[in-house]
Amino acid sequence: MTDFFHTAWVRPVRFGVLAAVALPRGLEPVPATVLERLHPRERALAEAERGRRQIEVVGGRLAYRAAAKALGADVDEHPLLSDSARAPLAPADWAVSLTHKEDLAVALVGPAQAGLLGVDLEGGARDRSSIASRVCRPEELALVEALPQAERWPDVMVRFAVKEAVYKALAPRLGRFFGFQAARVDRHADERVSVALFLEPTDPAFELEAEVLRLEGARIVAMVRARG
Ligand SMILES: CC(C)(COP(=O)(O)OP(=O)(O)OC[C@H]1O[C@@H](n2cnc3c(N)ncnc32)[C@H](O)[C@@H]1OP(=O)(O)O)[C@@H](O)C(=O)NCCC(=O)NCCS
Repeated sequence: MTDFFHTAWVRPVRFGVLAAVALPRGLEPVPATVLERLHPRERALAEAERGRRQIEVVGGRLAYRAAAKALGADVDEHPLLSDSARAPLAPADWAVSLTHKEDLAVALVGPAQAGLLGVDLEGGARDRSSIASRVCRPEELALVEALPQAERWPDVMVRFAVKEAVYKALAPRLGRFFGFQAARVDRHADERVSVALFLEPTDPAFELEAEVLRLEGARIVAMVRARG
């Protein structure tokens, strides 16, 4: 049986450490014994939420704790809170990004001096290629449409996940919303990806690195690191 709210895995990755926590499906309140494992300020955040949001908030914080501990951070001193736009308020020395799906919460934690981080978990069996025209820039869409039908959604999914990770890395620094047309994901041999940004001329410049990790069950984790 899955051990809900416990660490499913911890992996060192290029940008730091990635940790995943198993989540229960459904809407049941998170047990008090699980809430007790959080920092009191994280617990207060979780107790203000209900249903799925509560499960996600708790899962994300537990995944953060697992990843940060693996990097030697003192998580009891450094709770992970959120700003009014829901971006993680990471402790001073660390960059943190979170993502969750029905059964898993994932945190990416790395040293702040190396750059801002973004992470996104996507995947599963469902074909959502109908979102391609919203997610892709015209030049990306031309490449997607040249693929055999069965390869289109896996390709769009990578672009979508990387762009969501780009958003999580940059939105807190830019302080504004930006849509999917603001980035182009270029796919190279050996699963490598790179990102070209199309921000406003008044925005700061960023140097971006991206990586896609494949998990079992046709799932992927996109990770982005931004310096600028
Ligand atoms: C903000 C957004 C990326 C969050 O994704 P989501 O569908 O809620 O799904 P995920 O589970 O993957 O991520 C949730 C986590 O994202 C993080 N997040 C939410 N808003 C954020 C923001 N403005 N900045 C950074 N991180 C943010 C939070 O940590 C959140 O977890 P928490 O609420 O439990 O703390 C998404 O809702 C969105 O608005 N996307 C459109 C913008 C975009 O992607 N543009 C493309 C630019 S190229």
